[in-house]
Amino acid sequence: MHLDLDRVRASFPALADGTAYFDGPGGSQVPRQVAHAIASTLGAGLSNRGTVTVSERRAEEVVLGARAAVADLLGCDPGGVVFGRSMTQLTFDLARALSRKWGPGDEVVITRLDHDADIRPWLIAAEAVGATVRWLDFDPDTGELLVDPSVVGPSTRLVAVTGASNLLGTRPDVRAISRAAHEVGALLFVDGVHLTPHAPVDVRDLGADFYACSPYKFFGPHLGVLVAEPALLETVHPEKLLPSTDAVPERFELGTLPYEMLAGVTAAVDFIAAIASTSTERRDRVLESMRAVEDHEEALFERLLAGLDAIHGVRRYGRPACRTPTVLFDVEGRTGPEVHEHLAGRGVNAPASSFYALEASRRLGLGDTGAVRAGLAPYSSAGDVDRLLAGVAELAR
Ligand SMILES: Cc1ncc(COP(=O)(O)O)c(C=O)c1O
Repeated sequence: MHLDLDRVRASFPALADGTAYFDGPGGSQVPRQVAHAIASTLGAGLSNRGTVTVSERRAEEVVLGARAAVADLLGCDPGGVVFGRSMTQLTFDLARALSRKWGPGDEVVITRLDHDADIRPWLIAAEAVGATVRWLDFDPDTGELLVDPSVVGPSTRLVAVTGASNLLGTRPDVRAISRAAHEVGALLFVDGVHLTPHAPVDVRDLGADFYACSPYKFFGPHLGVLVAEPALLETVHPEKLLPSTDAVPERFELGTLPYEMLAGVTAAVDFIAAIASTSTERRDRVLESMRAVEDHEEALFERLLAGLDAIHGVRRYGRPACRTPTVLFDVEGRTGPEVHEHLAGRGVNAPASSFYALEASRRLGLGDTGAVRAGLAPYSSAGDVDRLLAGVAELAR
């Protein structure tokens, strides 16, 4: 099935003022169904999770519903879905917990292509226990991750890699990295924050032991999600309060869950599932809809890249073979903030930054300031792309 763009766009109140949002990699716009789910959960009787009163049961159902929704989105066990404030927070917590079993002689592999949220938590945790950090680099010309097989070895405890770079769009061969990690008995952590909004995801097929993502990048509220097999989570013991449950996955969820936000997560997954499918099972609808999203975004992305390449003075960074519809570029003689501001004046949102992929930005020679990023979303239109291109062309000399 194809994505019906008019129907998709009609769900997003934010699009009514004509703004063209290319800042989806920073956070997507939100369909009214998601906003409604959050508001109506807050508006109904709500207590702490329990089984006795109606309001306790409502909270319980919201939590279980959100775990089931994420399981359908990612192809995982609902009992292994952990919610937290952000991917960054969940990764710091997990790194701290896992590193209790690491020490001198153990190694952790991270990459320069990653967002800092999939670098710093591992680096800090490894350094605290005397473990060694080893880096995988990327080719600054192509943006491809260079998987040096000598970096992963018998001492490797964990490999952390992005499913897709939020700066260059590169989608590394996660399956191959998973095989290399598992061959030496290491765990694989995949940062799926930028991948999840753009592709059908199956965490088991990817070979990810841990997979993290952020619902606010795929039409949901500002939250983080970490998933793993429940049996693996059972082996990890994070710091927790004495009276809080030691059950999995609750063991990893510090304090009271944001029930209203979790209702928003379920609504976001239901929204995705309804983009372009009428299958019976939600998991099938998610996969079919995400394939339609990919087709829509790919076609539009070709138009965007061809348009940028036709403008004299525009330089694009990275040309990875497998990528999300996210492009990093600059305009000769203009700073990133100048481009950002000029486009904003035309109702086009495309900010300039390192977007916290700091190591990658530095490796590209862009220092800590980065460049302009334009990312597509299912609600992006050809008109949006043409407006961005016209704005960039006005700046090019
Ligand atoms: C690839 C990637 N990883 C991690 C993060 C951090 O996510 P969160 O804001 O949920 O901590 C981001 C946020 O932009 C991201 O793009």
